[in-house]
Amino acid sequence: MKIGVVATGHVGVVTAVTLAHLGHQVVGTDIDQEKLATLRRGRMPFYEPGAEALLKEGVESGRLLFEDSIGALADAEVTFICVGTPPRATGEASLLAVEKAAVEVARQASSQTVIVEKSTVPAGTATRVRRSVSRERSDIEIAVASNPEFLREGHAVKDSLEPDRILVGADEEWVFERLRLVYKPLVDQGVPLFETNIQTAELAKHACNAFLALKVSFANALSFLCERADADVVAVADVMGADKRIGREFLNAGMGYGGYCFPKDLVAFERLASQLGYDFALLREVAAINEEATEAVLRKVKDALWNLEDKRIALLGLAFKPETDDVRFAPALALAKMLLDEGAEVVGYDPQAGANAKAEVPDLEIVGSALEALQDTHCAVLCTEWDEFRTMDLPAAKAAMKYAVVVDGRNVFDPTTVAAAGLTYYPIGRPSFS
Ligand code: UDX
Repeated sequence: MKIGVVATGHVGVVTAVTLAHLGHQVVGTDIDQEKLATLRRGRMPFYEPGAEALLKEGVESGRLLFEDSIGALADAEVTFICVGTPPRATGEASLLAVEKAAVEVARQASSQTVIVEKSTVPAGTATRVRRSVSRERSDIEIAVASNPEFLREGHAVKDSLEPDRILVGADEEWVFERLRLVYKPLVDQGVPLFETNIQTAELAKHACNAFLALKVSFANALSFLCERADADVVAVADVMGADKRIGREFLNAGMGYGGYCFPKDLVAFERLASQLGYDFALLREVAAINEEATEAVLRKVKDALWNLEDKRIALLGLAFKPETDDVRFAPALALAKMLLDEGAEVVGYDPQAGANAKAEVPDLEIVGSALEALQDTHCAVLCTEWDEFRTMDLPAAKAAMKYAVVVDGRNVFDPTTVAAAGLTYYPIGRPSFS
């Protein structure tokens, strides 16, 4: 099937390369010509494990093309809109790019087609898109559908090719049929396909992200309590997670969730609920606990070092989570800014996200290895649980540092090993020791 993909951000590129891998003829487009040129050369514009191999495969096979304008998608049977939905000052998602892209796809379409919302959008967006599209074209049938992505950055290729489920919201049977053809290779392998009306699909996506964020914040709130009660939040999460109804995933306490989905989608969902006349106060609390989780780490650093003006602090990990170079809403950068505001010198290392972090926080010094970052520092804060930190040589770390103080913002280290290395240790929601 010929498929169009508008915008080549995280969601768009992964959608394009995986659909080409499934055998479809895919054309991607973007307003950023430089990004398109990079993609045509088979190079990824950002770090996502496994994506570059599929990109090369698609480009070399001729099944994956990147074209300058939406005109190249004129004969696509399905076009996925993967543009960004950044937050407005009010917290609502800005849907300007969604509207513009959909209208342009409709303007250029040469035959009956389906415009699919892939970006996370508030419930009701499809109705607005449909109205804009039908004002543009009434001579051909253009349907609107919702097919939210559930991709985790860093695992996006696997999440696309082996998803837990596929969700399609539509109003017409022919649209469901067309989307069934798009995903036939996956459904044939046993992936469950949920077909709902459009509003349900839009809401379900928000509900999933909000519930996952709720789990993380629940774990973080528990960590505050565990510290006061001399309990261990990791053990509490293990006990909770053994209950199949709860599940262990997303119960890791730490310095908070980040990324381009949870923080902004949560606010957008709360705004949407409020517009619909429901005060979803629980979601505001989830966001407040998340901020507190990062602030709690700052308090630990201050507790360990007292005044920060003359101190040098190392941040290990800058990306919002491992296996990505994305620093958007990264707790590590929020902490870096707080430490810099307090007058500390801050040096950071991340296996992938150093350049992006520097662009966001220019006063942050970036170095090329963990050991280099630790050199002559008074405290190290582990902010992102990259594997290479798990296996760090702790005695060498101690030798490099001025004060051997470690704040483990992701509970990565084994307390016994840390104790054996003679470090002063501040984990999250577990007993500290020196
Ligand atoms: C998320 C959703 O998982 C995905 O389905 C959706 O489509 C987009 O948003 P992503 O933002 O890539 O994906 O990251 P995810 O792996 O879900 O982690 C989100 C944040 O929560 C990260 O900052 C992570 O560090 C944090 N987190 C996660 C915790 O702090 N504790 C946990 O136990 C799990």
